[in-house]
Amino acid sequence: MHNKSRITRRDALKLAGAGAAVAAFPFARPAIAQGAPLKVGLLLPYSGTFAALGDAITNAMDLYVKQQGGKLGGRTIQWVKVDDESKPERAVENTSKLVEGEKVDVLIGTVHSGVAMAMAKIAREAGLPTLIPNAGANALTRSQCAKNIFRTSFGNSQPGVAAGKAMIDAGIKTAVTYTWGYAAGEESVEGFKQSFLAGGGKILKEVRLPFPNVEFQAGLAEIASLKPQAVYSFYAGGGALKYMKDYAAAGLNKSVQLWGPGFLTDGVEKAAGEAGNGVKTASHYVDTLDNAENKKFRADYNAAFKKFPDVYAVQGWDTTHLLDIGLKAVGGDVSKKDDLFKAMRNAKFNSPRGPFRLSASQNPIHNFYLRELKNGENVFVKVAATDVSDPTTGCSLA
Ligand code: BEZ
Repeated sequence: MHNKSRITRRDALKLAGAGAAVAAFPFARPAIAQGAPLKVGLLLPYSGTFAALGDAITNAMDLYVKQQGGKLGGRTIQWVKVDDESKPERAVENTSKLVEGEKVDVLIGTVHSGVAMAMAKIAREAGLPTLIPNAGANALTRSQCAKNIFRTSFGNSQPGVAAGKAMIDAGIKTAVTYTWGYAAGEESVEGFKQSFLAGGGKILKEVRLPFPNVEFQAGLAEIASLKPQAVYSFYAGGGALKYMKDYAAAGLNKSVQLWGPGFLTDGVEKAAGEAGNGVKTASHYVDTLDNAENKKFRADYNAAFKKFPDVYAVQGWDTTHLLDIGLKAVGGDVSKKDDLFKAMRNAKFNSPRGPFRLSASQNPIHNFYLRELKNGENVFVKVAATDVSDPTTGCSLA
């Protein structure tokens, strides 16, 4: 990785202590000499059930920067990585290591919605340029939006709304929801319910499992006895893989269609093998999208990492692309915050996912695609919705 440093546990303890002293003066950071490296803090999961997601995001960001000669906006990029372990209870300590301990110039994080909510509170108070490359917590770009916070991924409800409508279009009338019971699962289901109920669908039961529990058997037995036409589930990473395997092992894949947001299959489609066949998902990305950016990105990523990128990598790529646009506008001087944020807010570019721009609350407006997993590949079925924007409810950036 380019010019990286990783904070050890011992450093972390020292920095958390230093952070406590700095917390009272969140704006007291040293002036940045032009030409000095730009310190970019990466708060991402590098262990636990979402580790592969953090790696994919990091790989793509590093690839982007390398393709720009190691610099964005004329500044050499220095990554500083902290493993957040997808643990909300450690989010304040981990964010503080980067914001107050390392005094990063830009913060990028994270994957887990609960961790992101705590991270964003600190970032908002510090006014630090912050980009969210995955976590979909709706509030981040609704009531908790901020001028300095940009999301390049999605809002949790977005794929749910697209999937619920696609299920109605497919003639499904009854469903059970089975998800991790934290913000991402709850809000994904909320989005699904919105369109599924509006289309006349009936929900027989909402079943939850605490994150990151992967003991799916009891819920699967309940689904078998309720006999819905379909199940809507939010799981991701290692948990999603085990879920698809357990679902098939219970024989449910023969009688009850499994649907979800793209995260259910992304990054684990090959490992799922036959167990994943027929799983239908709605996502803002499909591997086979026929656009020049996607073709080049997939070829370059494969050349660099000997594997093909997934949706998480695409989000990482778009994160550095957006940051690049902002940094170019201010010649790498992040103290020119108004101009930096304005350039990022108004950015429009062609992403591997298709056209990308931001809403008034700085969340992506993008297309949603319906996919079906067949023999280890998420196969494009149709465009489910174009130019989808999450509501900006409760957000005012004026
Ligand atoms: C979330 O916690 O927001 C999340 C985690 C993994 C995939 C998608 C969303």
